[in-house]
Amino acid sequence: MKALILSGGTGTRLRPLTHTGAKQLMPIANKPVLYYALETLRDAGIQEVGIVVGHTHKEIRSAVEDGQRWGLHVTYIVQDAPRGLADAVRIAETFIGHEPFLVYLGDNLIREPLREVVLQFASMGSNALILLSSVPRPEQFGVAELVDGQVVRLIEKPTVTDSNLALVGVYVFDHTIFEAVKSIGLSWRREYEITDAIQYLVDHQYRVSAHVLTGWWKDTGTPHDVVEANRLILDSLESSITGLVDADSSLSGSVVLEPGAQVIRSVVRGPAIIGRHAVIRDAYVGPFTALGNTVQIIGSEIENSVVLAGTRIENVPVRIDGSLIGQDVLLLYNRDYRPHAWSFVLGDHSRADFR
Ligand code: G1P
Repeated sequence: MKALILSGGTGTRLRPLTHTGAKQLMPIANKPVLYYALETLRDAGIQEVGIVVGHTHKEIRSAVEDGQRWGLHVTYIVQDAPRGLADAVRIAETFIGHEPFLVYLGDNLIREPLREVVLQFASMGSNALILLSSVPRPEQFGVAELVDGQVVRLIEKPTVTDSNLALVGVYVFDHTIFEAVKSIGLSWRREYEITDAIQYLVDHQYRVSAHVLTGWWKDTGTPHDVVEANRLILDSLESSITGLVDADSSLSGSVVLEPGAQVIRSVVRGPAIIGRHAVIRDAYVGPFTALGNTVQIIGSEIENSVVLAGTRIENVPVRIDGSLIGQDVLLLYNRDYRPHAWSFVLGDHSRADFR
């Protein structure tokens, strides 16, 4: 079975970070979210992957190349404007051909292996299989209503719904989806919605089945989601210390300290991952923190946060918590201020110099 990863979206909800970087390359536990998708597809036995790319195609191409690193063969399909997920599927018809295929949204993370789902589809005689997950706030997603396990209705971002089953960004389709994506109109948000295309299948008596996930699923569309996804991945982190820890420092819990990283007169309490050549000095790095390569945390405290490569945080007098901080940010302070908690979402290259 071939797979299609949809990575053409612009990531408006992740601004300002997506002004400078592709949302599909947002690091989760120091690894681009798209890499998790590629691993999941490889583990499901898929070898041929088409990635639909938009304006961030250069970055995505240079991060994934031909996919050989995962044992995959990757083809890029360019979507010239972000016209929605159904449009992304439509333009991939030549790549897909006539066989059933899997669609995976490039900014989604799921815990569950997909091998079973792929096998299930082959034996169930359905035209589409959608993956669902029960969520507390379904109105933020596409939602499916089921009767006796069969999908009877789908609504994209409903204002009211009785169902708490959100459409996870993973679908398996047979060739009838191409009829659907060519037949639907634009939605209220001026996109061709994959949800509407699946509703078309239901309306035309095609068979749409559902598989409800038992493991966790995370859409990494907002800063809060990125911090949360980071927590979920770090939760099963295994320690590996290749960097340097001086005698005045202490590490506890699961910690990954990558080569060239240094911990000096500091406390690191895992789960936490610290990238290559990062420097932690006179600092506290608390649970669920991911620090990218060459990040410097000096005289400061941070936990439950994601900091991208090249950023320097120095002498900030309050603990940084629940924050997403872009690449090459300078966050500099002195200790004369009264401590109170701050949360940051700072885009790449920001400069917040309070000295
Ligand atoms: C898209 C789909 C939606 C699905 C969600 C999962 O939403 O349209 O049905 O629930 O992905 O992440 P979007 O991220 O485009 O708002």
